[in-house]
Amino acid sequence: MPYKEYFEAASEGLIVVNRGGFIVEVNRQAERLFGYSSEELVGQRVEVLFPTGFHERHRKHVENYFAAPRTRAMGIGLSLVGRRKDGSEFPIEIGLTYAGETSRGDLVVAAVTDISQRLALEREARRAETVISLGTFAAGIAHDLNNPLQVIRSRAELVLESPPSTPASELNEDLATIHRQAERASRIIEGFLELSRQRDKAVALLDINQLVENTLLLIGEQMRKDGINVRTELDRSLAQVNGDATALERVLVNLLSNARDAMPQGGQVTIESREVGESPGWLHLIIADSGPGISPDALKRIFELLYTTKPSGTGLGLWMSRRIIQEHNGRIEVESEPGRGTTFTIKLPAAETSDQHD
Ligand SMILES: Nc1ncnc2c1ncn2[C@@H]1O[C@H](COP(=O)(O)OP(=O)(O)OP(=O)(O)O)[C@@H](O)[C@H]1O
Ligand SMILES: [Mg+2]
Repeated sequence: MPYKEYFEAASEGLIVVNRGGFIVEVNRQAERLFGYSSEELVGQRVEVLFPTGFHERHRKHVENYFAAPRTRAMGIGLSLVGRRKDGSEFPIEIGLTYAGETSRGDLVVAAVTDISQRLALEREARRAETVISLGTFAAGIAHDLNNPLQVIRSRAELVLESPPSTPASELNEDLATIHRQAERASRIIEGFLELSRQRDKAVALLDINQLVENTLLLIGEQMRKDGINVRTELDRSLAQVNGDATALERVLVNLLSNARDAMPQGGQVTIESREVGESPGWLHLIIADSGPGISPDALKRIFELLYTTKPSGTGLGLWMSRRIIQEHNGRIEVESEPGRGTTFTIKLPAAETSDQHD
């Protein structure tokens, strides 16, 4: 096939430009892309194909190119904007190939591709990704709200079903729980709003024993009703941690709910807090249950997003818990063997006290 036929058959718009920046030849595809006829283009400066804002940059580009053309002999990809005869603009990519000294002078062949379709596809892919992460986000909110809502519902049922002779003090206790849970739900929503605003979290100095006690106020009663005996071994001399109380309580609620789910016939949960001698400055919070344990294969996967073995589980609990602990510069570890229960250990760095700086 002679050169001219290759030139016309190319799927890119081909524009041959000389050292002075003048168009020497264009193929049909280039005429189509830019809406000019070949006669209109040949002899014009190549800048006619770019929006005015690009002219200066483009002129420099041509100069630089011819100053050292061989370094780019294979052509380079550039994201640029083209301008049609009717003034409309479109995104293009240009590959440059140096044709060398020819009988018609020192020439470069610019291969122009209209990339509007590709960019539209890329935009669509990014949009789809955003939709997916929004879905995960929404599932996270749903998961976290479910806990307080369940408690509110069951407590409200207790109140509704209680006989008229029930003393007010007993009802008040249920109402206080409902109130606390409703507040918790609002805090969760605030937390997520905060997250979506990408503001700093509510970090404060916290006593992790206090966190355990608050969490037990929230769900301890329910666990007892489900036949779970919760025992605490809290070291009262522990240093404080820097953290977000709502987020850390969320982790504890997740771990305790998992223990409860694992022991439908009831069982033991021990919550222990301590500072470990061999790693000073680190506080350990250990949550151990006497449930059925986890098989080695499942153990590798429990922190994965959406991994669940429960018919109505979402598989968000441990994934979110680990994320929260990592945000606190801590670690969460698990040990489990079938038949020997499951132990989660949360390791958090102690907050530096002012006397350590002195
Ligand atoms: N204490 C435990 N004992 C036995 N298995 C556990 C325990 N904790 C977690 N698992 C296993 O790990 C899986 C993942 O737990 P995770 O908390 O991430 O999700 P989930 O509890 O299934 O659902 P949810 O999103 O409602 O929390 C559980 O489905 C369960 O199989
Ligand atoms: Mg869970």
